[in-house]
Amino acid sequence: MLILGIETSCDETSVAVVEDGLCIRSNLVSTQEKLHLKFGGVVPEIACRAHLESLLPILDEALKGAGVTLKDLDAIAVTNTPGLIGALLIGVTAAKALAWALRLPLIAINHLHAHIFASKLEYGHAPEFPCLSLVVSGGHTSLFLSNKETQHQLLGATLDDAAGEAFDKVAKLLGLGYPGGPAIDNIAREGSPAAILFPRSYLEPGSLDFSFSGLKTAVLYHYQELVGARRAVPLTPVPLTRKELADLAASFQEAVVDVLVEKTLLALRKHPVKGVALGGGVASNSRLRQKLARALEERHIQPYFPSPKLCTDNAAIVAGLAYYKYLERDMASLEVEAVA
Ligand SMILES: Nc1ncnc2c1ncn2[C@@H]1O[C@H](COP(=O)(O)OP(=O)(O)OP(=O)(O)O)[C@@H](O)[C@H]1O
Ligand SMILES: [Mg+2]
Repeated sequence: MLILGIETSCDETSVAVVEDGLCIRSNLVSTQEKLHLKFGGVVPEIACRAHLESLLPILDEALKGAGVTLKDLDAIAVTNTPGLIGALLIGVTAAKALAWALRLPLIAINHLHAHIFASKLEYGHAPEFPCLSLVVSGGHTSLFLSNKETQHQLLGATLDDAAGEAFDKVAKLLGLGYPGGPAIDNIAREGSPAAILFPRSYLEPGSLDFSFSGLKTAVLYHYQELVGARRAVPLTPVPLTRKELADLAASFQEAVVDVLVEKTLLALRKHPVKGVALGGGVASNSRLRQKLARALEERHIQPYFPSPKLCTDNAAIVAGLAYYKYLERDMASLEVEAVA
């Protein structure tokens, strides 16, 4: 069974062909990083226009790469929520048009559930259900209790900034470029995670929610103090040294990672399952992988950490998950909407 997947929820245009849910025949991703670089974040209107330009050429390439034509497809899958509304609309409209023209079933996919599916796509047989799923991305930080590929119960989520958003904003403040996550991950290797003790927000006892806005502000104040303290001429900022930048990045990253690990362990105490699946762009973070893997190993819990290319936005996770929705006959009508 061949499913074509389309993903346009944020700033990656992606089309994939996946066979029987697990075999990736093609997975093309066109990233818009360069377009958003000078703004230090995704500009919705630019993202949506870029999807419009690249979607059809990528669709052609994905079909060629998979060695199939439109006639060989069995279903069309598309991310319809959550995401930037203009960006989602491009993918949803294209998917509806294809499904209608080819008389194929249309399957609507929740982007966060697709991020969780990355583990299944990576490991094939896994994860063993029920499991915990931690989605850490540019727009979300959410913990789920997953009962099967298509069923995820939300246990907690961020009350303000997502982890990835905090990475991007701190990187912008430090002049490290966009996207900030990989930049901070890289420079943090040269710094000390214990250099600055930034606050860890755990919220009220027992809460599985997250909050990263206070941490972001703490980094800003620390940065301003460092820069301000050595101004020879008022209002003339003196750039930080590479060592100072590395220490700041490593200490910030450590605070984010500590909260993510602690909350996952708390969720495990409440829901004693055998495995934890990671998904979303921040799941590529080397320190998170290292600390979470160590904590899980000590507790004999199986970590499911997909490779970075499956963690960030891509359409293979969309087409793969769609197969399991297809088996449950959970199709969408042509009236299905994009939901921001
Ligand atoms: N190594 C890394 N360390 C930390 N963060 C990272 C790393 N690599 C990528 N990121 C972050 O991941 C985010 C992008 O992930 P993803 O593509 O899943 O998010 P999104 O699709 O924009 O948001 P959502 O999935 O919530 O809609 C960015 O914020 C980026 O900085
Ligand atoms: Mg995403």
